[in-house]
This record gives sequence, C-alpha cells and structure tokens, in this order.
Amino acid sequence: MPELNDNINKVGTGFAAFLSPPGPEVIRFTVGQPDFATPTKVVDSAKAALDRGETAYTRTQGSPELCDAVSTHLAKHSIEIDSNNIVVAPGCKQAVLYAMMATLNPDDEVLLLAPAWPSYDGMLKLIGAVPIHVPVKRDDYHPDFAALEAAITSKTKAIMLNSPNNPTGAVYRPEEIERLVALAVKHDLWIIDDMIYATLVWADYGYTSPTQFAGGKERTITVGGWSKGWAMTGWRLGWIGGSEAVANAVKKVNASAATHVATFLMPAAITALSLEAETQMMADSFKERCEVIYQLLDDLPGITVPKPEGAFYALCDITATGMTDIEFANRALEEAQVQLIPGSLMEGGEGFVRISYATSMENIREGVRRLSEWLSNL
Ligand SMILES: Cc1ncc(COP(=O)(O)O)c(C=O)c1O
Repeated sequence: MPELNDNINKVGTGFAAFLSPPGPEVIRFTVGQPDFATPTKVVDSAKAALDRGETAYTRTQGSPELCDAVSTHLAKHSIEIDSNNIVVAPGCKQAVLYAMMATLNPDDEVLLLAPAWPSYDGMLKLIGAVPIHVPVKRDDYHPDFAALEAAITSKTKAIMLNSPNNPTGAVYRPEEIERLVALAVKHDLWIIDDMIYATLVWADYGYTSPTQFAGGKERTITVGGWSKGWAMTGWRLGWIGGSEAVANAVKKVNASAATHVATFLMPAAITALSLEAETQMMADSFKERCEVIYQLLDDLPGITVPKPEGAFYALCDITATGMTDIEFANRALEEAQVQLIPGSLMEGGEGFVRISYATSMENIREGVRRLSEWLSNL
C-alpha cells in the first residue's frame, strides 16, 4: 500500500477522547457550544432561500451582500476591512486553516499562547508548520511577554491570538493587544486573530482587535464566525478578512478547497448579523452563568480559578488536589458523574481542567455540588 501523508501521524485527536456522550446521569461540562437553538429568524431566512431555489453555485468568496454585512459587523469591533477583502468559509475553523495556508510555509514556527485550542496545533502540523506553545501566566492566563520574546527564533512567522480565549476564558486587555502587535511588528510576524468569542465578553473592557494599533492592520488576518455568538455551530459558517494581498491568497485557497459555503445559508448569515435582541439575550445568559459557576467553583477545595473574563469556559488549576488532570477528569466522571476536559490534552495545560458552562443553571449547580461532595470526601 502507498504511505499516508507523513504529517497525519503528528496530528492529535484534540478533546475527542473526553467528549464522547456519557449516560444521562452524567453532567457534561465538556461541550463548547451554546445550548440555545439558532434564532428563528435565521432558520426562516435559510428556508426562504431554499424556497426561492437558491441552490446553485454562486460567488466563491460569498455574495456581495454577505461580505458587506460581515464588513459592517467587523466595523462594530473597530475593524476596517473592505468587503472585497472578506471571504466566507465553512466555519471559523476552516477560516483559521485558510489563514495558515495563505501565510505559512513548511517548517515556519507559529507562537501559540498555551494552553491553546487544540485544533490550532493540529492544523499547523497538517500543513507542515511548527506550533510553539508558550505558556500564559499561571495566575490569570494572560500573555507572558518575556516568554513570548524568548520563544521567537529566525523561523517564527506568525502568532495565533484568541481572545476571549478557549480554554482559559481570558480576555486580553487593550494594552496587551498593543504589546502583542508591537512584538509582531518588531519580529515581522503575521497575527492570526481568532475573534470567534468576541461578542461574549464579561470583563469591563471589550474584545480588542490588533488591527487598531500601529502596524497591526496590514499584518493581521481576522477570522471569526457565527457558531458561538449566534448559536449556529452546525451551520458551518465563518469569515476571514485582511489586506488585499492576504484576501487574494485566501480566495485562491477557498476556490481550490470549498468553492463557497452553501448558497442558501448566505441570506441566513446576513439575517444573523442583523440581530441584536436575540444575541444580547444569549450573551447575558452566559454572563449570568459565569457569575454563578465562578462563585461555586471558587469554593471548591483544592481548586484555584481566576474569574473567567469571556467565552463560556472556566479553567481550573487542580494541582493542589494531588491528582493529575487526567486522573481528575477520569475520577470526576466515574465517582462524581461529571464530565470535564483534562488540560493535558493541550500542550501547556497540565494540571488544569476546562469546564464549559454552556449548560443549564440547574446542571451548573448540580454538577459543582457533585464535584464539591466528591472532593470533600477524598
Ligand atoms: C477558539 C475557537 N476557534 C474556532 C472554533 C470553531 O468555530 P467554528 O464552529 O465556526 O468552526 C472554536 C470551536 O470550539 C473555538 O473554540
């Protein structure tokens, strides 16, 4: 038999081993998706497009109206990208891959703030680039600038940003983003900015785009999507935008890889971006859950957790329990019937567990009560 692509063996399986659906008696703190249905107006918009027969090939980067709508949405986050330089991709995940394919060559090194969402590591290895995991500060999960500077070599080509962050829940402060841009300018790096959680911020400052700072606009590739803020995970819709040169490269990748996202989803994606009350309601609900789960987790014996600043994750330091994170996750499942993600599935995540609070208030209270009872009886 011929051999497989050499890179395949280097790619891990992310959270898969700890995501398999357990029995109904288990409380799941693992799933990173909103527990809301997609807003009805969005669903109706897709249905109407199907009824109009919008099922044929169309403009590969996305309809002009959709690219305009994304450009207008990004402007609300102080990101200026001309709609010609926006491409709509099948999910933010694929948009991240496009950004990497458009900017990286094999053996290029990319800085990841660790622990990082595992798909970045997998994608980089898939295209032959090299992820360099640089731990964030252990007390608040914000960037460690000395460590980042020390990790830069002549092969470093890009830095991957994700704020609000999965898995840490951190939202980087404007002055930190400014410093990250200065670092990228100094070492001539691309910045790939994954803003998928930008509408879910609980800190008293918002999501900050690197494009706002001197030298940031030309070197930032902004990626995001509808999955988290609009409860549209299964729709597989994401955006990517940047300078004209980057956008032209991304258009080539997209035309070669996907042609375009489903034609009848395009009007629905526009409808989603026009919503305000529905998205605000979902964000408010996650914020409330954050307050509740943080107070409960903070009281657990052996657990240290900084207050999550955005997204819907709390990253808990469990080292004081004396267990490894894998042991903690396995025992929590078996003995407390609570499923969570052990941090060492991500490089730099050893000694942490990730809790997703995108579940009902009832599950939050009962799940943490079970953890509390289990930990108190150890
Ligand atoms: C940081 C981050 N980026 C991207 C994605 C994927 O988004 P999408 O569903 O749009 O592909 C996720 C999903 O968990 C994520 O956590």
